[in-house]
Amino acid sequence: MKEIFTKSMARNIYFGGSIFFVLLFLALTYDTHQALPQRDNSQAITETVALGKKLWEKNNCIGCHTLLGEGAYYAPELGNVYVRYGKSKEAIKAFIKSRPVNGIPGRRSMPQFNLTEEELEALAEFLKYSSEINTANWPPNKQG
Ligand code: HEC
Repeated sequence: MKEIFTKSMARNIYFGGSIFFVLLFLALTYDTHQALPQRDNSQAITETVALGKKLWEKNNCIGCHTLLGEGAYYAPELGNVYVRYGKSKEAIKAFIKSRPVNGIPGRRSMPQFNLTEEELEALAEFLKYSSEINTANWPPNKQG
């Protein structure tokens, strides 16, 4: 019986397909690296923002919150909290200072971290910087 689909055809599809997708992968990687500097908001990283990031880690904020979709799901996403709070660092600081809110059954509340004014400012600056990263609206969030 005559073969319609020959071994050499199969080989060509295998190698051709592999080369095509490797090239596509390289092109998309290149494109991402070209686009990142315009989107990552790295020009906004000041000493204060860096301090805010350190405090973010030291206090394990990510143990309860997500930031840009990464983290724990106990408490709200914070990548867009600066925008949701009317672009007010003061509102964010006031919120953090005002916790915990106890006595409401079933309500989760954030603990008190006893942060100094400088530390609150740094965390608020870090959250402002995070909100200005161009994530193409990731994570999708109706509140944002
Ligand atoms: C033990 C869990 C926990 C940790 C750790 C935690 N939070 Fe929270 N956070 C919460 C919960 C729960 C809420 C929402 C409920 C509330 O307190 O009103 C919240 C709310 C917030 C809000 C308001 C969010 C909104 O959408 O209104 C901000 C801002 C915030 N946290 C910042 C921080 C920062 C900054 C840190 C680290 C210093 C941190 N949180 C660490 C549990 C936590």
